[in-house]
Amino acid sequence: MKPGGRERLDELLGGRPELAAIAEDAFRSVESCSDKNEIDRTRVRLLGKKGVVSSVFKGMADLPPEEKPAVGEIGNLLRALLEERLDEKSVLLDAAEVEERLRRGAVDVTLPGRKGPTGHHHLLSRVTADVVSVFVGLGYRVVEGPEVELDYYNFEALNTPAYHPARSLNDTLYVYRQDPERDNRDDVLLRTHTSPVQVRVMESEKPPLYVVSPGRTYRRDEMDATHSAMFSQVEGFAVDRGITMAHLKGTLAVLARRLFGADRKVRFRPHFFPFTEPSAEMDVSCFRCDAAGCGLCKGSGWLEILGCGMIDPNVFEHVGYDPEEFSGFAFGMGIERIAMMKYGIEDLRVFFENDMRFLAQF
Ligand code: PHE
Repeated sequence: MKPGGRERLDELLGGRPELAAIAEDAFRSVESCSDKNEIDRTRVRLLGKKGVVSSVFKGMADLPPEEKPAVGEIGNLLRALLEERLDEKSVLLDAAEVEERLRRGAVDVTLPGRKGPTGHHHLLSRVTADVVSVFVGLGYRVVEGPEVELDYYNFEALNTPAYHPARSLNDTLYVYRQDPERDNRDDVLLRTHTSPVQVRVMESEKPPLYVVSPGRTYRRDEMDATHSAMFSQVEGFAVDRGITMAHLKGTLAVLARRLFGADRKVRFRPHFFPFTEPSAEMDVSCFRCDAAGCGLCKGSGWLEILGCGMIDPNVFEHVGYDPEEFSGFAFGMGIERIAMMKYGIEDLRVFFENDMRFLAQF
């Protein structure tokens, strides 16, 4: 609409009170529309064929000729101004409706999002990571080895003689077996411990070596509260010039305190492993009763944590190291056992049943 349209209309309506009343009524009915449907109905009522504006034009027929041009102009101005106002009103109502919907909270962009359930690491993965990170903090490197392993790495290079009970069909899960009469170094088996990683690393690298190796291990066990055919270990070993048992003890004492608390004491009991000499088992003073004696430590005050020892010179011979030049220590621990003690779990089967009521607790 040209500026001034409304002023011109008012001017023309000045001496014509009937038409002024009709116009005023028309504008008021546009303003009173409160939704889009009403706009549509009002548009028809005002601008349609039988509408208000049409009736203004029709009324012209009965007027004296000098009146006709002015009333024709009134009709045209009225139609244009009403059209314009209906369009504006329609846009305003759209905006008001969006505002109202937002106000009613259909979309409150300030609310926090709804969180779906998130998973987390399995307790065994967590304990494994805790152990590994202690050694990474001491400068050790993480190396993983195969779970399907050769007899050579699992037994022979680890100085485990052919007649050793661990090599029997009763204790080890074999994947493929050579003629039992012959050399069985090429037998394929599921590794019974993580110690073969020692041999694999030493065979392909030279000292100094500071390595930690987590992974799955297998033994031919019936499943019960404390046994599983599949379990988890963390292996570790250090080979360098001048490594002594003192290094072994100091290193493993750090582990025990990081895992079970700064006040823990450790003790080493003589033991036997074919691939370490001397060998020991390490106990940590019971964190539950502070070594006073309780159900967890079965009254002894001590918890058995791991096996360890100085790497046997026969192992060094298999990988071509001179035992006069290098020495080293090694250790291996069962993660299920440590997790059970630390978190008060009495049956290791819960680790593998995948019951969310158990898993979600950790
Ligand atoms: N491999 C041994 C076991 O599974 C543990 C061990 C590792 C002992 C390294 C000594 C040195 O019981």
